[in-house]
Amino acid sequence: MINLPGSFLRRTCNDIIIIMKNIKENWDEMAQDYDEFTSPADTYSNAIEWAHIKRILPTLRGRRVLDIGCGSGRFSYYFKEYCPSEIVGLDISDEMLALARSKAESDARIRFENGSTEDLSQFSDGYFDFVFSSTTMHYVKDLKKAFSEAFRVLSPGGSCILSLIHPLYSATYPLPGCSDWELRYQDRRMREYLQPWTRFNDKHEKPLCRSYHYTLADYMNTLIESGFTIRGVHEPQPPDEWRLGNPRRYEDVMNEPIYIVVDMVRSSDLKGYKNPA
Ligand SMILES: C[S@@+](CC[C@H](N)C(=O)[O-])C[C@H]1O[C@@H](n2cnc3c(N)ncnc32)[C@H](O)[C@@H]1O
Repeated sequence: MINLPGSFLRRTCNDIIIIMKNIKENWDEMAQDYDEFTSPADTYSNAIEWAHIKRILPTLRGRRVLDIGCGSGRFSYYFKEYCPSEIVGLDISDEMLALARSKAESDARIRFENGSTEDLSQFSDGYFDFVFSSTTMHYVKDLKKAFSEAFRVLSPGGSCILSLIHPLYSATYPLPGCSDWELRYQDRRMREYLQPWTRFNDKHEKPLCRSYHYTLADYMNTLIESGFTIRGVHEPQPPDEWRLGNPRRYEDVMNEPIYIVVDMVRSSDLKGYKNPA
């Protein structure tokens, strides 16, 4: 085991706490705008991401679903249409959760809880049949912890879909302290970037939100090390109507993949498998 001096550990822990606070504060501040930005039917999130995810969803009827980084509840409510027995939306932002809760007609099957993806200790091992997360993992400092927790709470035979910011896309985010936007795929330094929904909205005082840039190998290897069996990796495509009706937008999305969707299972037949977490 590496022996780190106390001052280093203190500095690192403080940095992480400040960054976490920054991410939470950012999302509290952006909650309403994010919800409005992602609501229209022709957004990337709905027309491309959700349209794709719908095609690979496992059976949810009668199953327990966890939506990590649920935000204002978009996906949690989409899943409700598939009749699961229980849906839990989890997020660190109180404002996002307040928005999510405000949309609920009294329905005991769906609830929203405050919590971080790196610590799911409120849920017992194997509790959920389906674990989902959209565009949240690039805010997570300890990917291994987050993925191992997602694996732990998934039942053997259960499915997990993660929709991630594509590493090619996050590689273009500006580095803190750099005036120019740089493209450095392998650079694992923390990235600050302009959220698209605040970029066009100057009422925000702090439109920068911190996130982490992970490479494809970071994501895939950490998922495999956490125990997941990867069934498919998808780069969602824009709908054909965009090619004809909105060729510029179509070309933008074709040139630069924005999300990558990973479809996984927790195998029930890995005899003697020990989660390396
Ligand atoms: C881009 S939004 C996505 C929201 C929702 N999944 C959607 O697709 O509409 C990212 C969300 O992740 C949440 N988040 C960031 N870091 C988190 C963490 N460590 N644990 C749980 N949620 C987190 C933010 O508060 C925010 O609501």
